This record gives sequence, C-alpha cells and structure tokens, in this order.
Amino acid sequence: MTVKTVCVLGGTGFVGSSIVAKLDATGYQVKVLSRRREAGKHLFLLPNVQVVQCDVMNNQALKESLTGADAVINLIGILHESGKATFEEMHHQLPHRVAQICENLGIERLIHMSALQASSNAPSLYLISKGKGEAALSDFNKKLNITIFKPSVIFGRNDSFFNLFANLVRYLPVVALAKPDAKFQPIWVEDVASCIVNTLQNTDTYHQCYELGGPTVYSLRELVQTVMDILGKQRPIIGLNDRLSMAQAFAMELLPIKLMTRDNVKSMELDSVTQQPIAATLNVKATPLEALVPEYLVNATPRSAYDRFRSAAGRAINGRR
Ligand SMILES: NC(=O)c1ccc[n+]([C@@H]2O[C@H](COP(=O)([O-])OP(=O)(O)OC[C@H]3O[C@@H](n4cnc5c(N)ncnc54)[C@H](OP(=O)(O)O)[C@@H]3O)[C@@H](O)[C@H]2O)c1
Repeated sequence: MTVKTVCVLGGTGFVGSSIVAKLDATGYQVKVLSRRREAGKHLFLLPNVQVVQCDVMNNQALKESLTGADAVINLIGILHESGKATFEEMHHQLPHRVAQICENLGIERLIHMSALQASSNAPSLYLISKGKGEAALSDFNKKLNITIFKPSVIFGRNDSFFNLFANLVRYLPVVALAKPDAKFQPIWVEDVASCIVNTLQNTDTYHQCYELGGPTVYSLRELVQTVMDILGKQRPIIGLNDRLSMAQAFAMELLPIKLMTRDNVKSMELDSVTQQPIAATLNVKATPLEALVPEYLVNATPRSAYDRFRSAAGRAINGRR
C-alpha cells in the first residue's frame, strides 16, 4: 500500500523534529501527536504537518488520533522516569498498545525507535525496557510491517549529549567524568532521519531491525576532549572508576534537573557500538561529527543553553519542551 499520511509519536522532540521536517519535504502528510500542542510550535509552519494534542496513555484518544494514517512512526522515549512515565510504560507497554491499535485499524506500516544494546538482559532499566518493547513488537510481525531502529548516541544542533559536555567544559574548572572508557558511535540526527524516511516505503526493510552508528567509535573521554578542542577550553578530565561513577550519578539524581542517573551509568556498561556499518538498503552514508559539531557548539548562544536546561527540567521552551 502506498503511504501518504504518516502519524508520528514523539515528533516534537530532538530526533522527531528532523524526521518530521524530512517527511514534510518529501511530500508526506504528517500528523504529529503531542501531549501539548504548543510543544510542536516550531513545526507549525511546515506546510504538510499538523500537530495534534493527544494523551497517548489513553487508548481511545490514541486510537482516534491514529485513525486515517497509512503508517505510524513511534519515537517516544524517556531517559529518566518521572511520575507515571516509567520505562515500562513508555518503552514496553506503549509500543505494544500502538502496535495493537495499528492492527485493529488496519495500519500495516509501523516504524519503531529503540536503542543500541537494548535487550531484556541489558544492565540498565532503560535498555531492558527498550528490549522488552522490541520483543513485544515481534508478536505483531505477521499482521504488521514493522521496522525497528537501534541508534547509538545521536548528535545535532539541539542534542543533549555534546551540548551538555560543552556546558560542563564552559563552566567547570575540572571535568569529573563517569565511565570515561565507555564507547560511543555518534550518528548525525539528519542521517537517522534519512534512514527512517528512506525506509518508510521500502519493502526490503519490513520485519528488519537496524543498528545505526556513525563512521567512528570514540571513548567518552575522547568525545569530551573533542568538545574541549572545539571550544578551545582545556580542562583536566578526571576519569571516575565504577564506584565513583555511581556515587556521582546518585548525587546528580538529587538535583532538580536530571543530567545523569545511576541507570544512565549502568547503560554505559555496554559499549554503544554497532556490529556493522549502516545497512546498504537504507541508502545513507554516515556523516563524521567533525564536519558538524564545531559549527553548532561554537555558535551556541547563552539562550540556547538556557533553553536546554529548561527542557531538561520539563519546562516549555519557545514552544518546544
Ligand atoms: N537522542 C539520542 O541520542 C537517542 C539515542 C538512541 C535512541 N534514542 C531514542 O530516540 C527517540 C527520540 O529521542 P529524542 O532524543 O528525540 O527524545 P526527546 O527529544 O526527548 O523527544 C521525546 C519525544 O517523546 C515524547 N514524550 C516524552 N515523554 C513522554 C510522555 N511521558 N508521554 C508522551 N510522550 C512523551 C515527547 O513528545 P511531547 O513532549 O510532544 O508530548 C517528545 O517529542 C527515543 O525513543 C529515544 O529513546 C535517542
């Protein structure tokens, strides 16, 4: 079936905004579901995009919002639990409910965002819940054409990864770094968006699970050093051992803004590195971070840093969260 209308859950977020813009530019009709319509304000001007308020925790509301879509892309994910938004609810139960509603409505195409190293026996609750979400979707493979993406850390102008380290380097005299030897393979947000948009109507990608990583693997220490080099601010990096990494994360959990939790540290016990390069069928050549990160870190304004802190605290920013 030809896909014309795509419903995106989590389309107002960092990755979602790039995907929605690309879907719009490609000519799809896009419906973005958001808890607060204002969170998608930055998407209002896109000609083929409609941002709709929907409580995705309410099955009836979700069903009504998905009605009429030819395909669904589910990007909803959280790094920290808060109130009813638990890992279990958002990463396991929600994907299962989305798939069930797709099946009931006859929406055959479903794209789901998981994370690299997600599995039911991973070391962190985040990765376990993402793994359970993937497993839940496998029950629907006979009725739905599902594709799952498992990216490493994603970078781009509004990322929370490089921007966080840039702020630490700007304002702290020393960087005490948890898990300095953990490995990452950062991938550009626009490359992730291209993979997903290219996949939408490619039947070869049905029932497949794709790991996504950039062209180079770095340790966390190397990435922080890269940020320092870009900003021209050299700070001593003190690598913390596992016990101190957990102690630092515990202390950070007590802050009003969740920058890092013990569960995040546990996720770093597994290297966030792919088994192979991006699959040829996705038709994307990964962009090196050196080509992009300097531009947006050097040009970051104090306002953008403030916006990110408000976002981390769950406060609205210029119509975004
Ligand atoms: N960024 C990365 O480095 C990275 C790496 C690997 C995997 N991923 C996965 O990629 C996906 C997108 O990540 P992102 O960085 O774009 O995240 P993000 O910027 O935080 O956006 C997450 C989206 O999920 C929605 N959401 C969050 N909490 C929700 C809740 N309690 N109820 C309903 N909706 C909720 C938000 O929608 P509204 O606020 O509009 O309701 C938001 O648009 C996630 O599944 C994430 O796990 C990201």
